[in-house]
Amino acid sequence: MTDRQPGASDKAWSGRFSEPVAELVQRYTASVQFDQRMALQDIRGSLAHARMLARQAIISAADLAAIESGMATIAAEIEQGRFAWNIADEDVHLNIEKRLTALVGDAGKRLHTGRSRNDQVATDIRLWLRDAIDAIDGQLRDYQAALLAVAEAHAATAMPGFTHLQVAQPVTFGHHLLAYVQMAGRDRERLADCRSRMNRLPLGAAALAGTTFPIDRLAVAAELGFDGVCENSLDAVSDRDFAIEFTACASLIMIHVSRFAEELILWMSPRFGFIDLADRYCTGSSIMPQKKNPDVPELARGKTGRVFGHLMGLMTLMKGQPLAYNKDNQEDKEPLFDSADTVSDTLRIFAELVPAIAVRPQAMRQALAQGHATATDLADYLVKKGLPFRDAHEAVARAVREAEAQGCDLATLPLATLRQFSPLIGEDVFALLTVEGSLAARDHIGGTAPSQVLAAVARARAGL
Ligand code: ARG
Repeated sequence: MTDRQPGASDKAWSGRFSEPVAELVQRYTASVQFDQRMALQDIRGSLAHARMLARQAIISAADLAAIESGMATIAAEIEQGRFAWNIADEDVHLNIEKRLTALVGDAGKRLHTGRSRNDQVATDIRLWLRDAIDAIDGQLRDYQAALLAVAEAHAATAMPGFTHLQVAQPVTFGHHLLAYVQMAGRDRERLADCRSRMNRLPLGAAALAGTTFPIDRLAVAAELGFDGVCENSLDAVSDRDFAIEFTACASLIMIHVSRFAEELILWMSPRFGFIDLADRYCTGSSIMPQKKNPDVPELARGKTGRVFGHLMGLMTLMKGQPLAYNKDNQEDKEPLFDSADTVSDTLRIFAELVPAIAVRPQAMRQALAQGHATATDLADYLVKKGLPFRDAHEAVARAVREAEAQGCDLATLPLATLRQFSPLIGEDVFALLTVEGSLAARDHIGGTAPSQVLAAVARARAGL
């Protein structure tokens, strides 16, 4: 580097400066420690840009060939972990460009024609996030498939359904699990929606105003698999709404998983005893020899908080930023990466953990025998015999009080006792007061009847 003033460093932008940046400032402003994760996306974007520059005769065919061969070397170095990342070169973009120039000379210096790191980084993040979304979509599908297998096996396994964490009505374990399949399905729709809004090419916006070179943005968009281009250059380089949107999607995924995690924790506690979790998802206590703790679901519940934190961080990062690019945006990457990693790890582990749930139908059945779970069925029975629902509700409530006084379940009261609360009650009531009768009666789409659960499993499976 011969054209440097004394005191200036050899940074890509140091021509304007008369002294090198301070050591602490260098570390404070660098992002290569974390944005090197986008290296392969950066190369993909650069190659598409270079090919377009050559087609438009902005660079020569020889320059393009040199850039392509240099980038192939660099990609191999990165993939093999041999690339020497240098914090003095600030970020992933400048590290790669510098290495390219070392490998192929002036052609490397021409790559940045008609481009800025501002549109470059906006492109790289979108490419990276697109890949991350595709991976997470597959992980959600695997999680759904795992839930469906258990739901099918337990389409007729009765358990108490709860409201307010009090026994409410019988449901099947399969039906309960299908609720989480639905949540994951909506999570996938949200991700697809986020992906399609994000899938626009920022490149060509250059620093903020566009470029004086005769670029062909649509061709670059097509080569990189974007559905179109960002139509305003200022917006293209500055907004990170897609990162916020993704992190909101990630938060909802974690909310849903955390609800399941919470149930697993409750169900595994001896108070419930509905399930057992394979030892490999649990740990012991260093002081209490009898303990087997559901660490994996507890951590999933806990990690939900850090994704929420990232969402709040990204929203705060974007709020009030004037157009166009500001360095604040460099802070988008760590929360984004960590959100994707957290969701991805959590879903992968849950897809493995679900088949390792040992279901305890006896314990579920026992819990059902204690909460007067078929009281609503008795009220519905009286309504079908002509009693207005409110009166039926009142009659059954009094019958429940009697059962409580006798220390038994409503379904086990003798007919004579039940008839004290309504003469409409006949011998035929007992078929309905059984758990099986109650389940089978909810025989409509979205209901808990075992036949409906099997049909729902089949529909969900076809939709995966
Ligand atoms: N590392 C930067 C970022 O992540 C790249 C863009 C820098 N642009 C600039 N003009 N300093 O946002």
